[in-house]
Amino acid sequence: MNFPVNRPRRLRRTETLRKLVQETRLHPADFIYPVFVSELVTKPEPIKSMPGVSNLPVSSVSAAAREAHQLGIQCVLLFGTPSKKDATGSESLKKDGVIQRAVHEIKSAVPDILVATDVCLCEYTDHGHCGIVRNNDVDNDVTLDVLSRQALSHAEAGADIVAPSDMMDGRVGAIREALDANGFEQTAIMSYSAKYCSAFYGPFREAVGSAPKFGDRKTYQMDPPNAREALREIEMDLVEGADIVMVKPALAYLDIIRQARDCFDVTLAAYNVSGEYAMVKQAAASGIAEEKRLTLEILTSIKRAGADIIITYHALDAAKWLQEQ
Ligand code: PBG
Repeated sequence: MNFPVNRPRRLRRTETLRKLVQETRLHPADFIYPVFVSELVTKPEPIKSMPGVSNLPVSSVSAAAREAHQLGIQCVLLFGTPSKKDATGSESLKKDGVIQRAVHEIKSAVPDILVATDVCLCEYTDHGHCGIVRNNDVDNDVTLDVLSRQALSHAEAGADIVAPSDMMDGRVGAIREALDANGFEQTAIMSYSAKYCSAFYGPFREAVGSAPKFGDRKTYQMDPPNAREALREIEMDLVEGADIVMVKPALAYLDIIRQARDCFDVTLAAYNVSGEYAMVKQAAASGIAEEKRLTLEILTSIKRAGADIIITYHALDAAKWLQEQ
């Protein structure tokens, strides 16, 4: 049957009809809101390349979490900048480290919001790599021990979810083992399973000062042309005990999100990263596009591709816009 019997425009006639047949719906509970906590600031310091996002001192994190929670967002993801960096990222393991204190603050002030923590070394190492460097190379197996201890320390501080973003092989299994051996079998792991070596991380690296001082991340993060490899990474993480798997970045990798959705019946997150956010802000500032429509269209595309959870710096704005609709 075809035209004129079939007329797809019939269901596009009014706003109400369009809403009735809408296939993908965004909700504030879809979002995880990333929060930058820094020991280098005493008051919120705007991040230049990410308008609307600031580095916060520990004393400001619970206010940020409360604002997110009041907008219907269920989870924040914490990134930390320590005052001191060294070769092994030892600051990341301290009981009174920046993340550990921030987790404690949020959990005491806003107990109902979930706290996820980024588990990685790049923010804490003086060379900026995501692991321990030996002979000019990031040593995979030596790094697993530090990552496990860091994840455990976040769990001890009260994190609900630990999120390893380093891309070492075997880190999910090592972290699961460390958590279980210490009574944290209920702490969930959200793994950055398919994390690509992307040019879209620029603003983030500026925000936390984590750009590698030599070389790049190509020996551990994934090569952008590869799709099958992403499925293998995800499968390995699931076998090692990941509870939530992630594809990152989101926009240039919507096909990977879709394939992951079709291959695995697990909760899938996608990270709408800093460079994607910055591009929207710049486009809006220069009048190329309307920020609200552009943002909601992008977030909808990530959900339509198959993501259950979207990690996004737009979370607060998007939650407000969704409440208005
Ligand atoms: C590494 C980490 C990165 C991001 C999250 N965790 C940067 C990197 O791999 O260099 C990027 C997030 C973003 O760009 O928004 N710990």
